[in-house]
Amino acid sequence: MTAIDYARQHQQRFLSELKTLLRIPSVSTDPAHRDDVRHAARHIADELQRIGLENVRLIETTGSSPTGHPLVYADWLHAPGKPTALLYGHYDVQPPEPLDEWLTPPFEPTERDGNLYARGAVDDKGQMFMHLKAIESLFATHGKLPLNVRFLIEGEEEVGGEGIAHYVASRPDNLHADFAIISDTSMFAPGLPTLCVGLRGMIYTEIEVRSARSDLHSGLGGAAPNSFNALAHILARIKDADGRIQIPGILDAVVAPAADELRSWSSLPFDEDEFRQTVLGAQAIVGDPRFPLFERMWAQPTFDVHGIIGGFTGVGAKTVIPAKATAKASMRLVPNMTAADALQRLTDFVHQSCPPGVSAEVRLIHSAEPSLIPVNNPWIRSAAAAMTTVWGRETVFVRSGGSIPIVGDLQRHLGLPCVMMGFGLADDNLHAPNEKFCIRNFHLGIESILSFLESAAALQAEA
Ligand code: BES
Ligand code: MN
Ligand code: MN
Repeated sequence: MTAIDYARQHQQRFLSELKTLLRIPSVSTDPAHRDDVRHAARHIADELQRIGLENVRLIETTGSSPTGHPLVYADWLHAPGKPTALLYGHYDVQPPEPLDEWLTPPFEPTERDGNLYARGAVDDKGQMFMHLKAIESLFATHGKLPLNVRFLIEGEEEVGGEGIAHYVASRPDNLHADFAIISDTSMFAPGLPTLCVGLRGMIYTEIEVRSARSDLHSGLGGAAPNSFNALAHILARIKDADGRIQIPGILDAVVAPAADELRSWSSLPFDEDEFRQTVLGAQAIVGDPRFPLFERMWAQPTFDVHGIIGGFTGVGAKTVIPAKATAKASMRLVPNMTAADALQRLTDFVHQSCPPGVSAEVRLIHSAEPSLIPVNNPWIRSAAAAMTTVWGRETVFVRSGGSIPIVGDLQRHLGLPCVMMGFGLADDNLHAPNEKFCIRNFHLGIESILSFLESAAALQAEA
């Protein structure tokens, strides 16, 4: 029997085990779910132990991180001379709200039309769990693994991943590996095997504007500075009408994609109007018209406001000039921007944009560096070949507009190339109500991962 046969024979059990994991509401940002997050970590640790991993443990990251959710670590290192794979995933999920928009409850996984609906179904419990089931299938078939593996699974990805960033930066011995594999991205189209080779980084900030000692009667308007008007003015200066970022020098570091990468993007099967309607649900696609859409989403930075806090938002009217206004705003960063440089330039620009009598502060909440993996990397080539075999179609290479903070850290601190083999789909409702995972992708994902690990075992280890 092959490992793929084993995976096929146990599809039903794999899916029902995933459901058990999805029932644990491991919402990392919510202190009320602290124990649930830990429960999810223990559950995964137990499962790693059960399928045959060794040195299974929770690693505390308290001290450096705001939430203190543990890392789950496990390894199996009995393939001397063979490469070592680092399998990364995250077990934390986004908050499920708004609850009334879910057709079935977020933590009661439900099958509908070939999909599994639940918070975390695809981001990232379902995808992370594929790694466990791929390893289980290899173990169960051969009694051993074709290569060395280490699991590192975090519980703070959705809140910036500070704990794991500190851990990786300390370069612990038990992260020695030749490559990393991450399933936390999407396929470009249903049935189209896809490897993601680039992610954007980000700085997530709070911009706080103060205009007076305390709120004032708006009869003083005309003389009194207004924090909200000032904040609106500052935010509006950051981009021009075409969406071009106006912060001086901030685009200097941006590296344009190579000609052949741009060419490969332009031949991806894509209908802009369908994307506009089904994914964006908007009247227009925006952005700098000098760049094609994929370059805008994958290789250009952004500035987006997420929310504005303060002032009077109650029922009816209140004539007040609010003294304080705060915006949550982030920038997505692309190669070769750095979080430190972007934060400095944004901060300077905000200060310079303050109208008279107003002061502003930019506070960093979390950051991530952008990342880019060369497509001719041998691990990437091997992954592409494995996916092409499993899915019966040529693998495509894309980047993603999203961020996975650890990818840049693994590259910079440990020199690890990341194979981003993801099986999400564009309509999976990540971070939104009715998140789902295509069940066929779950099963073929397991086959893809185990096929890749089998072929990676034949490649030369670096050290
Ligand atoms: N899995 C996503 C990132 C992603 C989504 C990559 C779709 C590619 C395609 C990840 O869990 C996520 O949501 N990341 C956050 C990171 C942030 C909290 C630092 C993001 O991109 O907003
Ligand atoms: Mn994710
Ligand atoms: Mn996410």
